[in-house]
Amino acid sequence: MQAHNNVDLTPLNTLALPGKATRYLKITAPEQLAAPEIANEPRFILGGGSNLVVTGDVDRLVLHMAIPGKRLVKEDADAFYIESGAGENWHDFVQWTLQQGWPGLENLSLIPGTVGAAPIQNIGAYGLEVGDCLQSVTAWDFEKRAFFPVDRAGCRFAYRDSLFKQEGWHLNGRVAITSVVFRLPKAWTPNMAYADVTQELAARQVATPTPQDIADAIIAVRRRKLPDPAVVPNTGSFFHNPVVPADQAAALKAAHPKLPCYPQADGRVKLAAGWLIEQAGWKGKDLGPVGMYEKQALVLVNRGGATGDDVKRTMAAVQADVRDRFGVALTPEPIFL
Ligand code: EPU
Repeated sequence: MQAHNNVDLTPLNTLALPGKATRYLKITAPEQLAAPEIANEPRFILGGGSNLVVTGDVDRLVLHMAIPGKRLVKEDADAFYIESGAGENWHDFVQWTLQQGWPGLENLSLIPGTVGAAPIQNIGAYGLEVGDCLQSVTAWDFEKRAFFPVDRAGCRFAYRDSLFKQEGWHLNGRVAITSVVFRLPKAWTPNMAYADVTQELAARQVATPTPQDIADAIIAVRRRKLPDPAVVPNTGSFFHNPVVPADQAAALKAAHPKLPCYPQADGRVKLAAGWLIEQAGWKGKDLGPVGMYEKQALVLVNRGGATGDDVKRTMAAVQADVRDRFGVALTPEPIFL
């Protein structure tokens, strides 16, 4: 097992930001994580690099999670249980489950990144979050030097959040997710809570959609709105949709009747960050080489040659304008390395 020195991280993050890893090791089997020679090095766990802002050179051992493998582990009267290695590509995994006749993940089609990274920020789209379909996660704990399972409740999933995103877990490389098991119920019903999806299916004249029809509709919607990271480097939504107290949302709605508001179970209200950013004048606007995408203002894009500092500058300018105009704080979705 040979670590490489001074590895360029530009092709390994979807914002294409420059930075070198002092040491880099590709992990293709869980046992590699237990090697004594990497036990005490400061480290960072890298997945698909699609939720990451590289801010410069990284003086750590970067462990690139590339563990492959996907299989049906169990089937009972109610559900299929599917296991995937952390390094599998998320979208390919979703399409494979659909081809096998195990629906349930179709609403999460075309999200960039790896299966192992999906639970960390509890990826979600079109009315579904990965935590809704997850049975358990297996991770290696570098401090306890042991693999440990975490069930769904233990993952403490919330909106774009989980146990693994907490300081001291993922961020300092304490744990590395090695595999994930999904529970996909046999009783399938289409999840079409989103107008974007129902409209796309209507346009395709699909009245009773199959899981693959829903996947295809979502792929089409995403391709229309969101830039392909291979063409225009980005990390998807750059900010969380802010969740504010009900009275603040009511005051904002009174002043701005078109503001999209989504009431939450706890009484608070989620606001559409993309709308706030667009109204603040940032849709399609750049500051240096970094701007907000012209078809979806929540997506920060690298127009070419940007560095982590350029990203921080645009981020701060957008945050300041939205705060000044609406009194709402925007927090970034990606992890800063
Ligand atoms: N909107 C605007 N202007 C914009 C962008 C959006 O007015 O430039 C408005 C839309 O018209 C709509 C509302 O804001 O009324 C919400 O927009 P959209 O449906 O595009 O979704 P979003 O809230 O911006 C969230 C997720 C996405 C996910 C979509 C679909 C977050 C931070 N983002 O985006 O997730 O794909 O919903 O479910 O929750 C990601 O996290 O990287 C991501 C892409």
